[in-house]
Amino acid sequence: MRQNKISTKAAQFTESVIRDMTRQAMRHGAINLAQGFPDFAAPEAIKRAGQEAIAADINQYAITWGAKELRQAIARKLETWQGLRVDPETEVTVCCGATEAMIASLMAVLDPGEEVIVFEPFYENYGPDAVLSGAAPRFVTLHPPREPQGEWSFDPQELRAAFNQRTRAIILNTPNNPTGKVFTRAELEQIRDLCLEFDVLAITDEIYEHIIFDGHRHVSIAAIDGMRDRTITINGMSKTYSVTGWRIGWAVAPPVLTGAIRKVHDFLTVGAAAPLQAAGVMALALPAEYYESLAREYRLRRDRLLASVREAGLRAFTPRGAYYIMTDVAPFGFADDVAFVKFLVEEIGVAAVPGSSFYKSSAGKQQVRFAFCKRDATLDAAGERLQKLAARTHATQ
Ligand SMILES: Cc1ncc(COP(=O)(O)O)c(C=O)c1O
Repeated sequence: MRQNKISTKAAQFTESVIRDMTRQAMRHGAINLAQGFPDFAAPEAIKRAGQEAIAADINQYAITWGAKELRQAIARKLETWQGLRVDPETEVTVCCGATEAMIASLMAVLDPGEEVIVFEPFYENYGPDAVLSGAAPRFVTLHPPREPQGEWSFDPQELRAAFNQRTRAIILNTPNNPTGKVFTRAELEQIRDLCLEFDVLAITDEIYEHIIFDGHRHVSIAAIDGMRDRTITINGMSKTYSVTGWRIGWAVAPPVLTGAIRKVHDFLTVGAAAPLQAAGVMALALPAEYYESLAREYRLRRDRLLASVREAGLRAFTPRGAYYIMTDVAPFGFADDVAFVKFLVEEIGVAAVPGSSFYKSSAGKQQVRFAFCKRDATLDAAGERLQKLAARTHATQ
């Protein structure tokens, strides 16, 4: 009987733990600090641009690889912010979110038998993405800092040991989900040296580019000497403009790679929503102050949630970018992260994500991630509920 058989590929991964936590939060009436979507309004001007595009009847398929004006806006923004000059006609593909840009890129460049290096902990999509593209992920650890205020880091020797003749690509994510790490220029140069030595591509997810704190600066690896022609840069509107439901993202890559990405993208989804692409043109032209205030507001949210998770007794690592706080929950004495998160959602009324969903190894078994892309009122309400945990640490001491 083959009717219930599923493919070997689909059998290799589970449903998204993050999206499942959102469903659990709804079931238990918990405050959702699990999934990374804002609960505050998107900017008025961007919403109006979307409404106007629909009213102006931009309602049919856009060009499959993206409306020309949006590709031009993406190229202009990359030049302004990263000093990178790309040709919107041959090097930019608009997709249904960075999510589709990543899977389309991997399917476009990877073959079975090849390997792709992924830093661990990783954004959970990268594992299944690698499986679906037929390649094998090889993980390199990002080690937590000794002090909560320190930086997550990789061991250069461990990174070098992951490269071999089968390595086709390395996936980067900076600013990083879930650790909040912002890769420095020096680190990216080390990665560049290995990419050149082993003839490897970099596929970099820069969706949190503008959510960055404490004087850290975002560096695109494509802008580092020697990398322009071997990098696929992925980004999108979701996080920068607080429109995660619009599903507009893009991949920027040299023409040969772009040709392959466009073919895969076309057959996966045909194209992203046309009126929302039109609104994207307006959004990407916003002045620098927009991005400055975005980062400032997120820093305040970070500080707010950091203070309350620390007061509640969690050991929280200070994120330098993106909108998550990774914590070490070992002091609470639960069997593992999943047991802790179950207790949190059912008894405390706050949903978070078990750290193990960001790891292939067992290193995340005492880690839990909280999202702070939420209104002050939401963060305060969650903070209040979390204080019930403090009593528990004292009780178990
Ligand atoms: C690192 C990273 N990449 C991509 C995405 C999803 O991006 P998009 O909404 O553009 O598909 C997320 C969302 O949480 C993310 O954290």
